[in-house]
Amino acid sequence: MADRPYTLLSCSMSFVFNNAAATESRLLLSNDLDFDRVDQVRAGVDAIVVGATTVRNDNPRLLVRDPGRRRARLDRGLTEHPVKVTVTQRGRLDPSQRFFADDGSRKLVYASSRVAAALDERLGRLGEVVDAGDPVRMADLSRDLYRRGVRRLMVEGGAAVHTQFLADDLVDELQLVVAPFFVGEAGARRFVGEGHFPWHPGRRAVLAETRQLGDVVLLRYALSDRCAPTD
Ligand SMILES: NC(=O)c1ccc[n+]([C@@H]2O[C@H](COP(=O)([O-])OP(=O)(O)OC[C@H]3O[C@@H](n4cnc5c(N)ncnc54)[C@H](OP(=O)(O)O)[C@@H]3O)[C@@H](O)[C@H]2O)c1
Repeated sequence: MADRPYTLLSCSMSFVFNNAAATESRLLLSNDLDFDRVDQVRAGVDAIVVGATTVRNDNPRLLVRDPGRRRARLDRGLTEHPVKVTVTQRGRLDPSQRFFADDGSRKLVYASSRVAAALDERLGRLGEVVDAGDPVRMADLSRDLYRRGVRRLMVEGGAAVHTQFLADDLVDELQLVVAPFFVGEAGARRFVGEGHFPWHPGRRAVLAETRQLGDVVLLRYALSDRCAPTD
């Protein structure tokens, strides 16, 4: 029996696997159909993780947008929105970011021991700061979320967070969306950084689904036997 949540990792990227611009400006890769699909996926999870850089650069809301999906969550005895989760080493999080908005969602900030107390003081009641050790390990974060009742977890990025979850073999399902263009600028970030990944030429991931959504395509891969190819 796993002691971590069922974890799905979601990323949209260009033809050359860039998932972000070289600058801090947001690179829009998805289309409306895919944004709606992502909203549906969010509505089906207990928590969403993003790295602190994504909180700073993209300023995402990380909420379920569709009112019907929010009502359905409440009918199932869940909160209207999943728990928002972020992780920080340096503690540079601005309380005015949308992540910390007074929107009814619970916020968890996994911070390295070096900055946890100061961040807790700065955020006050806006979010719960978890002293997550030093360094913060995604396996510990996953187990802690499981202890807090999170059974389905969505990892939305960016690359630093994706890389650690994948390299540490903590992902059950990979959802990749390919946008139909190239990003050729120097320094544009990639889906993952360097790492030793459990999937390589000798161990190929299992393709579970392909789905066309307008001009983008979703590729769903099963990375563990917890992900049924017919989900
Ligand atoms: N295309 C997509 O699907 C998608 C999705 C999400 C994000 N993005 C893009 O990705 C970009 C950001 O990616 P990124 O790789 O630069 O950053 P990221 O993964 O969003 O965040 C990295 C930051 O998270 C914290 N962090 C990560 N691992 C940690 C650990 N083990 N312990 C403690 N803190 C840790 C650190 O925060 P501190 O610096 O605070 O210490 C680190 O600098 C954004 O510009 C965004 O647009 C794309």
